[in-house]
Amino acid sequence: MRILVTGATGQLGSALLNQLKDSDYKVKITSRRKPEETGHFEWVYSDLLSCEGIEEAVNDVDVIIHAATSPIKNSKNVEVSGFEEFLRKSPHIKHFIYPSIVGIDEIPFNYYKLKYEAEGLLKNSSIPYTIVRATQFHHFVENLFLSKPFFKRYIVPGNIKCQSVDVSEFASHLISLVDKGPQGRANDFGGPDIMTLREMAELKIKVNNETNKILSISLPGKLYRSFFDGKNTNTIQKAGKITFEEYLSNKIE
Ligand SMILES: NC(=O)c1ccc[n+]([C@@H]2O[C@H](COP(=O)([O-])OP(=O)(O)OC[C@H]3O[C@@H](n4cnc5c(N)ncnc54)[C@H](OP(=O)(O)O)[C@@H]3O)[C@@H](O)[C@H]2O)c1
Repeated sequence: MRILVTGATGQLGSALLNQLKDSDYKVKITSRRKPEETGHFEWVYSDLLSCEGIEEAVNDVDVIIHAATSPIKNSKNVEVSGFEEFLRKSPHIKHFIYPSIVGIDEIPFNYYKLKYEAEGLLKNSSIPYTIVRATQFHHFVENLFLSKPFFKRYIVPGNIKCQSVDVSEFASHLISLVDKGPQGRANDFGGPDIMTLREMAELKIKVNNETNKILSISLPGKLYRSFFDGKNTNTIQKAGKITFEEYLSNKIE
């Protein structure tokens, strides 16, 4: 069984490579930039925007874990049209594993709409698949909201809810799906706790012994409302074990 990991230089891609390097799987990896460490993996260049290199990437692999994504730049082309071309070149694939995001069908955010469209393309293709939606990664929430205090204040929409999960646990879950075979739409993979962003900021201040304060703001609009309502969470599927506090503590060890 040969696995292709796309998005090899990304957060999820790197976590996948880190775990696959000690496995018995034959692994091929792809991205536009070459990862600094490729280990014994074969790396090939491919670009979902120009569609260059796709054939070479999917050639002679059985399973794809698709961790390539472009949320901001050219997202429509990468997430949907490039993805469609990618699927077109992959009729021989026995199992296509697509990491997605909890709540994308309910949250009015353009990138999420595109990912939902991509889920539909995969479902309607003839390729056996597993779609597994995860909640936001710990580092993603931290980088987005809690990395740049302004005049010693984290200015955050403190009442929105998050159920962040450790990327390494999600990576290991995706790898476990390889042997399980195609599951269709699998259970969501949520983090262990649902917290407000204010609570997460408080934890960061406590764990890092910071003197920063929190300024919680409310925002207008449906996007804010859907995160306030926790549409990005799943109260039943709390598969992740590593808490946000443990993630923060591990960083300073
Ligand atoms: N971040 C989260 O909190 C979160 C939560 C749940 C699910 N997910 C899902 O997990 C997956 C991976 O997310 P991530 O956070 O690991 O993303 P990331 O860190 O932004 O990595 C994106 C990867 O995609 C590659 N890429 C970007 N543009 C490309 C293009 N035009 N052609 C080919 N490759 C391209 C990048 O490498 P190069 O630039 O070198 O090509 C990089 O390796 C996504 O499907 C995302 O929706 C993310």
